[in-house]
Amino acid sequence: MTRASFEDPGAAAEARHARGAAGDARGAEASPEEVREYAARVRAEVEAELEGLVPAESEDPPAVHAAVRWSLFAPAKRFRPLLVTASGETFGAPRAKLIRTACAFELLHTYSLVHDDLPAMDDDDLRRGRPTCHVRFGEATAILAGDALQALAFQTLAEDETLGAELRVRLVSELARAAGTPAGMVAGQAHDLSAEGRSDVSGDELDRLHRRKTGALIAAAARAGALIAGAGAAEAAAVTLYAHDLGLLFQITDDLLDVTASASDLGKTPGKDAHAGKATYPSLYGLEAARRRAREVFEGATAALDAIARPTPLLRGLARLVLERRA
Ligand code: IPE
Ligand code: IPE
Ligand code: MG
Ligand code: MG
Ligand code: MG
Repeated sequence: MTRASFEDPGAAAEARHARGAAGDARGAEASPEEVREYAARVRAEVEAELEGLVPAESEDPPAVHAAVRWSLFAPAKRFRPLLVTASGETFGAPRAKLIRTACAFELLHTYSLVHDDLPAMDDDDLRRGRPTCHVRFGEATAILAGDALQALAFQTLAEDETLGAELRVRLVSELARAAGTPAGMVAGQAHDLSAEGRSDVSGDELDRLHRRKTGALIAAAARAGALIAGAGAAEAAAVTLYAHDLGLLFQITDDLLDVTASASDLGKTPGKDAHAGKATYPSLYGLEAARRRAREVFEGATAALDAIARPTPLLRGLARLVLERRA
């Protein structure tokens, strides 16, 4: 188990793992072991596909390509790709039609990390267990590497020959909305920066911040899988509700880990949020209440899946993985 993968949540979690309520197959949840095995398989496939999508370091401009590769091929969880494939396969899409879209989400996400770490933003030195892109390559190259990753994300969707033209346009639109403003990641990042040092951030405001900076992309990843599979409107709506809560949960646990985890677990420097005066779950609620809230949001996410008239074990297992993650 590498630092990058989701860590083994341990025997306690295995023991707590239960099949769905009253043995109803629709509520069944994949075991942590099943989820980890699935995650490892998808991670390997996505990384192999990304290798072919990203220009070689030797191609001009070499510094930008070296920086892109430095940030992208560092050890990472590949959670958004995982969600694309898990959601798509839940609704019957073959893996081969999901993999490019999964890569597009990872490219976009990696761009967001490179820019998030810049001195003008979170000013971080460590990412995915390595010096951050701007520390290794300089700020200008890191900015350009982020730009190139973002462009390649949209290029990947637009040029995915396994999908029809209409579906590609729809996916481009979904990713753009999730990445940009006013409802996407960039809006959330702006909100995150403007909330630094403020002591009057309410719970509702913090949820809105987290849902935009992290939740939007995670929600879009799950929706993208459902769209590719041709899921019905009711199923897509249920998976959207699930993924919106999952996205919030992902940032709550990120906030908790910033307080409780080590640099070697995280591959990034802990304790940065308090230092920067970030609005976070632990800063607003305290650790215990933040953990309780994480649990409630997890319950909300899995309850949303109850509206889907087919088994969703992987999506349920992924939610638990996020709740119990240690990296
Ligand atoms: C970190 O994302 C940034 C957030 C949105 C919280 P991940 O925790 O998915 O980081 P990687 O991709 O595994 O490095
Ligand atoms: C990041 O939130 C959200 C992004 C859009 C990248 P954080 O700033 O908390 O992410 P980390 O902790 O640096 O990974
Ligand atoms: Mg940030
Ligand atoms: Mg950050
Ligand atoms: Mg963080």
